[in-house]
Amino acid sequence: MNTFHYRDHALYGEDLPLQEIAAHYGTPCYVYSEAALRERYHSFSAALGDNTRVCYAVKANSNLGILRIFAEMGAGFDIVSGGELERVLRAGGDAGTIVFSGVGKSSVEIRAALGAGIFCLNVESAAELWRIADIAADMGKRAPVALRVNPDVDPGTHRYIATGLKESKFGIPMDQARHLYLQAAQHPALELKGIACHIGSQLLDLTPLGEAAGRVRALYDELAAHGIALQHLDLGGGVGIRYHDEIPPSPADYAWTLDQALQGVAVRRVVELGRALAGNAGVLLTKVEYLKDNGGKQFCVVDAAMNDLLRPALYGAWHDILPLHQSVGTGPAMDVVGPVCESGDFLARDRPLAAKAGDLLAVMSAGAYGFAMSSNYNSRPRPPEVLISGHQHRLIRRRETLADQLSLEENPPSRKSPL
Ligand code: LLP
Repeated sequence: MNTFHYRDHALYGEDLPLQEIAAHYGTPCYVYSEAALRERYHSFSAALGDNTRVCYAVKANSNLGILRIFAEMGAGFDIVSGGELERVLRAGGDAGTIVFSGVGKSSVEIRAALGAGIFCLNVESAAELWRIADIAADMGKRAPVALRVNPDVDPGTHRYIATGLKESKFGIPMDQARHLYLQAAQHPALELKGIACHIGSQLLDLTPLGEAAGRVRALYDELAAHGIALQHLDLGGGVGIRYHDEIPPSPADYAWTLDQALQGVAVRRVVELGRALAGNAGVLLTKVEYLKDNGGKQFCVVDAAMNDLLRPALYGAWHDILPLHQSVGTGPAMDVVGPVCESGDFLARDRPLAAKAGDLLAVMSAGAYGFAMSSNYNSRPRPPEVLISGHQHRLIRRRETLADQLSLEENPPSRKSPL
């Protein structure tokens, strides 16, 4: 699907020229396509079939307007905090479809999740399991749990987003998990629901995922032999997308990989997809402020920065940069940089761009882990978020003002004594 595309040299999002959005809302500005979000979700859920629940990983983009679209489509949700729980509930998501991952769930968060009646807590340590059991007992409930296992496979992705290697903080080693299931099965406040696993993000080769699923399946078989009959297997998320020239797995490839590894296991499957659903459904619009030449090195200084989109600075990630008005020919190679006072503040490096001051650009593939990772660094107000749908556009988060930032702070009285 070609959500963002050129028509008569103008970059469109669905049926709207992005120039119009920039004129209306100013820059920098995040823009998401509702059609793209829907299409991605339907492609994955159709390929995976009725026996798989597709949970949207809220951390990728947690705007209420985005969550509501997933809720309307009947998606489940993967959350990692009490804040994300609250967002899903406010967006009309069904608590009974929520899985809760993360290594550091607080007592308050566990209580809120049990109170809301979520589908499953994906437990990441023995200590967490017993805390959940205590809280559930205190609430007079049985906590639905899966142990998130660490299958020790190398997902072949950036090391900051690899989670299934034994040196990473995530999950429980397989042999520990085995013992813990047997112990947990005896606890009256725990309901053993499934096994969970997530090996990493931006996976382009699904072989490691198949390997991890195979290990999960072996544990499932072993537990069944011990009389522990689990009801679902959660294979996490991680399907990669095209940022530059990658060839990401298709929904059919993904379904095939899981089918191969889990052949003959009839229980329900859960997946937790973020990037593959939202990544290419969004762009960040920005305006060129200045061109500058530092003794032969060319810079294109734009009004978006690392505080708005951290991925290039944090992971050296590639995002395509497209002009809103397509120009003829290309210009010199430039670094596209923001106003933040860090040398790591770049959105792209060495890109041939025929840009001049005042031009508008789109930073592509910014729908996942874009706004969600933004900050107020350098006291920069966060950009607005706009949802487009056909010819229509709607503001789903307004631009922050300086007053928004200052409203949380106290201005202490001066301690200078009067002269
Ligand atoms: N499930 C769990 C337990 C996760 O930790 C994650 C992502 C997901 C699902 C969703 O993964 P996805 O399908 O989106 O790959 N900030 C990084 C990505 C961090 C991913 C963290 N966990 C980035 O911008 O690339």
